[in-house]
Amino acid sequence: MAVVAKYCPEIKVTVVDINKERIQAWNSKNLNNLPIFEPGLMELIQKIRDKNLFFSIDIKNSIKEADMIFISVNTPTKKSGLGAGYASDLKWVEESARKVSQYSEGHTIVVEKSTVPVKTAELIKTILMSNKSNPKDPKDNRTYSVLSSPEFLAEGTAIKDLENPDRVLVGGEDKNAIFSLTEIYKKWIPEEKILLTNLWSSELSKLTANAFLAQRISSINSISALCEATGAQINEVSNAIGSDQRIGKKFLEAGPGFGGSCFQKDILNLVYICKYYGLDQVADYWDHVIKLNNWQRERISNLIVEKFFGTVSDKKIVILGFAFKANTNDFRESAALYIAKELLENGANLLIHDPKVSYDQINKNLEVFVKKVKSEKRITFSKNLNESFHNADAIIILTEWAIYKNLNWKKIALNLRHPSWIFDTRSIINKSDIKDLGINLWTVGDGEFIS
Ligand code: UGA
Repeated sequence: MAVVAKYCPEIKVTVVDINKERIQAWNSKNLNNLPIFEPGLMELIQKIRDKNLFFSIDIKNSIKEADMIFISVNTPTKKSGLGAGYASDLKWVEESARKVSQYSEGHTIVVEKSTVPVKTAELIKTILMSNKSNPKDPKDNRTYSVLSSPEFLAEGTAIKDLENPDRVLVGGEDKNAIFSLTEIYKKWIPEEKILLTNLWSSELSKLTANAFLAQRISSINSISALCEATGAQINEVSNAIGSDQRIGKKFLEAGPGFGGSCFQKDILNLVYICKYYGLDQVADYWDHVIKLNNWQRERISNLIVEKFFGTVSDKKIVILGFAFKANTNDFRESAALYIAKELLENGANLLIHDPKVSYDQINKNLEVFVKKVKSEKRITFSKNLNESFHNADAIIILTEWAIYKNLNWKKIALNLRHPSWIFDTRSIINKSDIKDLGINLWTVGDGEFIS
């Protein structure tokens, strides 16, 4: 919405939320308190906030005023009930549609921005229409058009992706509504990149795009294990296959397994939809992308324990990076979360460092384990990277933050307790930097290097 506001100064954009604290944080004078860290966002907010971009909890009047409403709420995986563990929970989408139908006036275009299962627009339309006081009442002149325009930005590069997208989708039937939305996008996006589709294609394209991206990561991660077993090097293999233009270079970096709030949730949802339509083999196919992702995380945490001859109990392990990738403070479903839990269960002492993730939030997420281990002080957090390595037995690089790429290994080696290991799950360490330092290195897709 900040990017829309930037390119459309004549449009008043209001972001509303039921979460008062979050809106307060978006309105915070100190821009370091914005709830989301995203390169370039702070500067953008500083420029346009309270000019044509507003953050408010006045949902009623904001809906009343609006000509166009983007539903951008979360759609997490259902935890219980029908479809638990797979289907998306649409309660927030439904709730938003109900609020729109309650407060809107005149004609309102409702745009689905959230990632939703195919056919959700039908649910939104049904709610909008059924909540009209009396559909036949001529005095009730409220009308609606529903469009689908899913979001393809990735965290950490959000502003860049929004300003220069590969494509945007506009799915729908109502020509006037489609025109209104494309007029907005056209302010900064070339027309040929605005793809017009029907509602269902637009909804399904979003889930499918994420599934295809995640599938590439699971494919390359499966090959990373084969490389380690055979002496082939994953970077060389990725480069060789990525040079075939039909395959392409992007999204072929082996790692600890994909994380984040999108891939797992969306593939699970796709699996659920396939099952719903009786396409069990298709469901199994996509389910395996997730299974392989879980396997990669397990494989890495098991391997760490094995390198210490089956016990990490009371070993000091430094975790570098908790975010699911660099340039974000988000660690939902991150491989770090999974690997940290496994290591704690195995009795390790963890020292966690991440330049952006809130340590408070990590603690909350590891709570079950923290409770068990707090008295033993098994998790500590570090603000000072240089002081983190004292007496450490192992260092695990889980996020590819730039600051981890230029560490002074000579200095660090002096602080470690030997025999020591570095586990580089992001392939960011140069072997030559640790040569002759007496540190053992394991790199994803490359295996062991004893210096
Ligand atoms: C993903 C998609 O890339 C976006 O297009 C989509 O809009 C978004 O989900 C969404 O549905 O909202 P995001 O989850 O923010 O974006 O992050 P990605 O850059 O896709 O990374 C996801 C995970 O895959 C990270 O853990 C990353 O480290 C991992 N990854 C990515 C790899 O392990 N190897 C790669 O080569 C690329």
